[in-house]
Amino acid sequence: MKTFTSPAELHAWSREQKRLGRVVGLVPTMGCLHEGHLSLIREARGRCDVVVVSIFVNPAQFGPSEDYDAYPRREQDDLALCEGEGADAVFLPSPADMYPPDASTWVEETVLAKGYCGAQRPGHFRGVCTVVAKLFNIVGPDVAVFGQKDFQQVAVIRRMVRDLNFPIEIVRAPIVRDADGLAKSSRNAYLTPEDRTSALSLSRALATARAAVASGERSAATLEAAARAETTAAGWVPDYVNVVDSETLMPLQEVLPGASAMLIACRKGNLRLIDNTLL
Ligand code: PAF
Repeated sequence: MKTFTSPAELHAWSREQKRLGRVVGLVPTMGCLHEGHLSLIREARGRCDVVVVSIFVNPAQFGPSEDYDAYPRREQDDLALCEGEGADAVFLPSPADMYPPDASTWVEETVLAKGYCGAQRPGHFRGVCTVVAKLFNIVGPDVAVFGQKDFQQVAVIRRMVRDLNFPIEIVRAPIVRDADGLAKSSRNAYLTPEDRTSALSLSRALATARAAVASGERSAATLEAAARAETTAAGWVPDYVNVVDSETLMPLQEVLPGASAMLIACRKGNLRLIDNTLL
């Protein structure tokens, strides 16, 4: 497995792979890899000849009062996990490798990025789009794999890819959960055992919504109220709970089975968790 810190060296290597006729896959991550990320690498492995994993805690997507400095970093463990999953290359740039000190160009999606997490975290998706566009230019992948856990992120990136004509297939890979339902997240490391138990209210709320839809419930308001009640009773205050069109993210009044999702974000003190389900 090759490791790169220089964008130019990775670009040259990746171009050579493509010249040799290989399908190149990219899995962008911020490191602290868990089973969810490994499933993305496997997804890319299954679709591509060559898999590049990027590990970069992107300062541009963190707000001033967010956890950029505290964000868990475990480079050596991450490299071993990538090797174990058969990644061909890992890109580990520093912030200086990625952003010149006078960088003044940003990529911003202006519709899908507005609500939900975008409303709670101003500038977050501008940082995500900018770094993902840069990774796309550096690696030039044919396929890029992202996790459904960040549902809004995938929708925003798909729109960016469409709007800016990136010739890249975006794959949304299913959420990986612990046995009790908690969606895997690097930020789960911040949860105390009590917080972790009460955090199960998010996945419970989503499972309840899925079951209600399977039994014929279609009212978004009814489903949202039940989900809010479930998490609030467990001490998690909803930032948002919305039934949305799974492509446009527009809030729906009625579930469109097969084309809807429920998105949820909750806070408890300084903790914030997101989760979602297709309906
Ligand atoms: O989902 C993430 O880990 C990040 O937002 C991403 C896509 C790697 C961009 O920094």
